[in-house]
Order: sequence, then structure tokens, then C-alpha cells
Amino acid sequence: MNHRTPFFGANWKMHKNQRQAQEFFKNSQTIKWPQNAEVVVFTPSHLLLPCASQSNLSLGAQNFFFEEQGAYTGEISAWMLAQENIHYALVGHSERRQIFKEDFNLIAQKVKVGLNTGLSIILCVGETLKEREENIHFDLIKEQLSSALKDIDLSQPKNIIIAYEPVWAIGTGKTASPEQAEEMHLWIRKQLSDLFDNTLAQQIRIIYGGSMKPENAPSLMERPNIDGGLIGGASLEAQSFYQVVLACEKNKD
Ligand code: PGA
Repeated sequence: MNHRTPFFGANWKMHKNQRQAQEFFKNSQTIKWPQNAEVVVFTPSHLLLPCASQSNLSLGAQNFFFEEQGAYTGEISAWMLAQENIHYALVGHSERRQIFKEDFNLIAQKVKVGLNTGLSIILCVGETLKEREENIHFDLIKEQLSSALKDIDLSQPKNIIIAYEPVWAIGTGKTASPEQAEEMHLWIRKQLSDLFDNTLAQQIRIIYGGSMKPENAPSLMERPNIDGGLIGGASLEAQSFYQVVLACEKNKD
């Protein structure tokens, strides 16, 4: 059995108004969430503060900018999040890399600033179908990890979580097989060991994302290097998110 606390994130993306979020947390209050897992809901940013008083789960931001304050129309900063007791944030999601053209450099800056501000960062990495077919996916993930993590001083391994999200599995209903996911998670752990050291690499959680749902979560969670999930579609209802989180009880012995 490994000693890593399972981590599950609900990535709501650009979904839900305040009433719908309230409904989610009303349902969530009736659920006995597993004590042995860390569970975080990444709401759209305008819902973070209204949800804070209603949520029995931790909240996180889907995005932030690396400067603390200034003339950056439309942005919020890691500092602003921390001031409001929001301690988790996603960085490098494939939608931000692809649609918002976030490059390696920007992502590296966000990781650094986020960690320095005291946030726990969920760094997302993943390849497109084309990259997998061209067999460059291992090299690509290596580059995504080393560019984002090379300059960081990781005193708190629990504050960085890697989310492996194959782009071809996100929102498509196609999940990576447990074998495909485990193979990449092992590769990621090896990269972490090269970037830091083996002790730290064994402590960092590596979670899977991409059409994870109640039906496929248990077989993914059985794998020794899959430490949780980042869940989009199946996290919009409290009950289905809970059913995914329950897979943390899967025995890895
Ligand atoms: P999905 O999204 O579960 O809807 O595939 C996962 C994500 O993008 O984080």
C-alpha cells in the first residue's frame, strides 16, 4: 500500500451559475466523503467566494496570473486567491495550452509563483492523439514536466500534484486504459525522480484525468502509480463525483 493521500479534483470548467453551485453543495453536505482522500472543487472564479461559506469540500481556482497585482485586465493572481483562503489552483490544463496559447514559459512562471505564494498546484500534462500516434508522447510529457518544474525548490512535495490528462481522452468519453495510464504515470514518476530525487518522486501524487467516471475509476485507481483523478463532466453532480472519489478505497496491495 503506498503512503500517498489520494487526491480528487472536480474541474467544473465554465459551467454552473450560483444557484446550480449551491445545489451541488447542498447535495454534497449529505454525503459522507472519505476521510482518507483530499477532495477539491475547482469552480469558476466568480463562484469561489460565494461557495466558500456553503462548501464542505476545499475549493480551488482553475487559473491565475503570475503577477501579484497590476494592469492585467481580466486576470486574478495567486496572491489574491491566497488572501481569500483559496489554496489550490490548476496550471497548464490542455484547454489553456491550446485555446489560450499558454506556453512552457508562462506555465513555468505560474508554477513558481503559485508555489511561492503557498498554493498547492495541480500541474496538468498530456499529449494529443496525433502526438501519441507519432510516438512522441513520452518525450513531450518529459518536456512539459521539466520546463515547468526545473527551477522550483520543492520543500513541500504535497504542494505539487501532477495530473496526466491525455488530450484525446478529455471530454470525449474515451478513457486511457488502466495500462496506458499506469505506463505514463510510471514514466512521470521517473522524470520526477530525475528532476528532484527518488524520495520526493515517491511522495508526489500523480492523478489521472480524461473521461474518468464511476464506471472506470476503480480499475484506474487499482494501479500503483495512479493516486487520484481530475474529473470534468462526471464532477458536475455531487453524487457522480462522490462515486468516482469512492474508488480511493481500492486496495493497491
Ligand atoms: P473530463 O475532463 O473528465 O470531462 O474528460 C477532465 C479535465 O479536463 O480535467
